[in-house]
This record gives sequence, structure tokens and C-alpha cells, in this order.
Amino acid sequence: MLQYITAKEAAEKWNISQRRVSILCAENRIPDVAMLGNMWIIPRDAEKPTDARKLKPTKAPKGTHPFVKWAGGKGQLLDVLHQNLPDGIGTTITKYAEPFVGGGAFLFSLLTQYTFEEVYICDNNKELINTYSTLKTNCEECIDLLQQLQTEYYTLENLEQKQNFYYEKRERFNVLMLSEETKIEKASLFIFLNKTCFNGLYRVNKSGKFNVPFGKHETPTICDVDNLTLISHALQNVVIRACDYHDVLSFADEHTLVYIDPPYRPLNATSGFTSYTEDQFNDQNQIELADMYKELSTMGAKVMLSNSDPHNVDENDNFFDDLYAGFTIVRVDASRMINSKGSSRGKIKELLIKNY
Ligand SMILES: C[S@@+](CC[C@H](N)C(=O)[O-])C[C@H]1O[C@@H](n2cnc3c(N)ncnc32)[C@H](O)[C@@H]1O
Repeated sequence: MLQYITAKEAAEKWNISQRRVSILCAENRIPDVAMLGNMWIIPRDAEKPTDARKLKPTKAPKGTHPFVKWAGGKGQLLDVLHQNLPDGIGTTITKYAEPFVGGGAFLFSLLTQYTFEEVYICDNNKELINTYSTLKTNCEECIDLLQQLQTEYYTLENLEQKQNFYYEKRERFNVLMLSEETKIEKASLFIFLNKTCFNGLYRVNKSGKFNVPFGKHETPTICDVDNLTLISHALQNVVIRACDYHDVLSFADEHTLVYIDPPYRPLNATSGFTSYTEDQFNDQNQIELADMYKELSTMGAKVMLSNSDPHNVDENDNFFDDLYAGFTIVRVDASRMINSKGSSRGKIKELLIKNY
């Protein structure tokens, strides 16, 4: 039976940093490593890998998951999304694009199962994308700042003190938003606020200031070192852009799988949370998005799109059936329940629209 040592022990034995050991484990560069909880363990007789830092496209290790909670996150729909993938990933399909990446639940899940030669993500939330880019290029510094924030937060004695700390950091984030100089600090604050605010929401007011209230969490996990390290590894081969979704047209081709998860069309005027950034995503935007979907299809890309199903509240509302006539429209169970009284209470459906 294999005997294991911890990442700390391996780091001492090989005279490298513990974080470097985690990266080597994440890159599958040490045979037979395993995870115990969220810690790597390494076979006692494993040899120190040679230092080939150049990263090639590799699968992300199992367990890599979003670094933020995000409205509309696809964590609950992963199985359905995987079941609906096209054939040919890894053979005819060598590129992956996600133009409304948000928290990236599907991105990370996909990267743990398939190897792509090129991967592209974008979102028009600049601060979210700054955090992705920082984790890609300056993960260690970001982790250090986040660990300091976590230590300070945990040291505070009661919720009132934590609340004051939260609002101080929120204010600091809003000041930094105007600056291009402090990308790493901003990224660490972005993650800190996501973990400590109300419900992991990201909402800004009319002048673009983040305004989500305190979440009253006593000891949330603010700095998950192992996952952030895995994320950084997974992002090495990824093109990351802060821009409008149309930009994906410059990346996609007939070898590309594109997953589109836009802000959902609200089921009724008041039910929708669609304000991720200053801009709303209205019906006209949904129509323009369908035009791009068709353009991608004409290029030969494989495209899968998620949206809400208007039939949940109005059987005669065929907005998406009409917009995507001619494509495959699958109605899938979502995890949410319809929020209404009496007999119509039930599992809500969502749409998955495929061009294959
Ligand atoms: C439904 S969320 C995506 C959720 C994501 N799939 C997840 O698992 O977390 C929609 C995302 O689209 C972004 N977005 C909204 N309008 C956009 C636009 N015009 N171009 C690019 N991204 C946009 C929002 O910032 C938000 O992150």
C-alpha cells in the first residue's frame, strides 16, 4: 500500500515552496497524488519532478470549482449541460468559448474533463474579469492579500465589528475601481466582498459603485488556497477578455464549442435579477444575441445556449421558440421552484438551445 506525506513535508524534502508542490500536483506532474479533504497528499517515495514550468493544455484537476458565488451560476445544471454536449470534443472540437462566463461553473467543470487546445472567456463585468486575470498571472500575491483579509475578519470579535470591516473594505474597493494601478488588491477585495456580502451578489448603483450589503457571515471561507491554486493552473491556457459578448466572433470557428449563458429573460417584470452591471439585458438584447447565435452557427461552431422558459408562467409566450425556430430546444428541469401558490407550484423549466 502507498504511504503518503503532506505537501508541506514534500516541500521540505525537495526544498521548494509548498505552493509549488500544490501546483505540481495540480498539473499532474507527480504520479499517484491524491486529495485528502482539500489538501494534497503525495506518495512518500515520489521523486521531485524536473522543473518544466511551461504549461501545455492539460485537464484541470478534479474539484476545481468557481472562486465566487455568482447569480445565475450553473452549478446545479452541470449534469444536464454535460449530457447535452456535442460529439467530437478532443477530435473535431478543439476550442472552447464562453462569452458570458460569470462564475464559470461550467467552464471549470468542462476543463476537468476535456483538454482543449484553446479556451476563451469574456464577461462585461470588468472587476470580475480583473479577478480572473489576476488569478491567472499573480495568484500567489492575490492569495497572500486574501489570507490577510481572512485573518483580520476572523479576529474580529462580533458581527458588528465584522460589519464595519466589510463596509470599510467595500469603500476601499469602490475607490480602487477607478484605478488601473491596483489590480491585485482589487481582485482580492472582489473575492473578499463576494464571500462576505449578502448572498454573493454583485450589484452596482447608477454611478457604478458596488452596493451590496453585509452578509452577516461569522466565519465564511474567504481564502481557499488550494482551489485558487487549481484555478490559476486551469486559467494558464485561457484567453480572458473584459468586453461585450460579440467579441467571441473573433475567436470562434468550426472547431469551437460555444456555451452562451446570458442574463435570463425575466419570467415576469419583477422576478428577474438581471442587473449584474450597470446595463440591463432586455428583449432587444436577447434578439441581438440570437443573431449572433445564428452567425456562429453559419461559421460551423457548435453552440449551446441557456435561458429561462417563458412557458413556466405563460404557455402562449413563445418568445424563444420563435427566436430559435429551426434549432433544437430542450426543456430541462432547473433546481428552482416556481414561486407561486397552489397547483402550479412545481419545478421550474429552463431552456437549452443547441444547433446540433
Ligand atoms: C447568467 S450570468 C452567467 C453565469 C455563469 N454561467 C455562471 O455559472 O456563473 C451572465 C453573465 O453575463 C455578463 N454579461 C451581461 N451582459 C453582457 C454582455 N453584453 N457581454 C458580456 N457579458 C455580459 C454578466 O456580467 C454575468 O456575469
